[in-house]
Amino acid sequence: MGKDVIVACDFDSKEKTLAFLDKFQGEKPFVKIGMELYYAEGPAIVKEIKARGHKIFLDLKLHDIPTTVKKAMAVLSGLDVDICNLHAAGTSRMMEAALEGLTRPDGTRPLLIAVTQLTSTDEEIMQRDLLIDQPLDKVVMHYAKNAADSGLDGVVCSPLEAGKVHQVCGKQFLTVTPGVRFAGGDVGDQKRVTTPEKAKELGSDYIVVGRPITAAEDPVAAWKRCVSEFCD
Ligand code: C5P
Repeated sequence: MGKDVIVACDFDSKEKTLAFLDKFQGEKPFVKIGMELYYAEGPAIVKEIKARGHKIFLDLKLHDIPTTVKKAMAVLSGLDVDICNLHAAGTSRMMEAALEGLTRPDGTRPLLIAVTQLTSTDEEIMQRDLLIDQPLDKVVMHYAKNAADSGLDGVVCSPLEAGKVHQVCGKQFLTVTPGVRFAGGDVGDQKRVTTPEKAKELGSDYIVVGRPITAAEDPVAAWKRCVSEFCD
């Protein structure tokens, strides 16, 4: 898969999601389904969006004991999504178990990527709440390296970290990056943002874009603008 824009469908119902996707008519944007929509509608919404011809990043961020994550990943792999994810904080053993669970009998599997530190966690919070007494960027790179060594395909990170992740984990290791805004656009609750163009320059492989597209007056035009700034 080449560079692409993944649209975060952060809606709380099937109706709202399908009404949003209907606007795209012949176009099939890459869709991210997160906890809100998945917990509201379950596997049926994944199947429905897949049947409409979209690629899907199922963003459920698993984190549990290795056996539980392995079994859960085996179930998710049956949904035929393109990308799944988990928390690297679950340890290398958990990530290896997840890959085993995700791999189908014929050897195929969705891509598996890891969340390092959430972008809502800054260094002070990490040190105070998690007692991780290290600089945030060192922790992010350590988790990324653990994910790469465990056989995962990439990480979710800030576009600002994409270059360093590629240096540490290799060019092929995917960087999937939220925190994207158009120049002059509303930042919302994202702390460190970059434009699609800047994310491309910094080496992101995929950008995850929610509100700049879902809340736009013309979501299709906003998506096309993202694609042309990031992919062309
Ligand atoms: O609306 P916005 O563009 O901020 O949406 C970004 C999407 O990326 C949301 O679905 C959010 O949950 C997700 N995300 C994030 N930061 C992370 C991981 C995921 O913003 N570190």
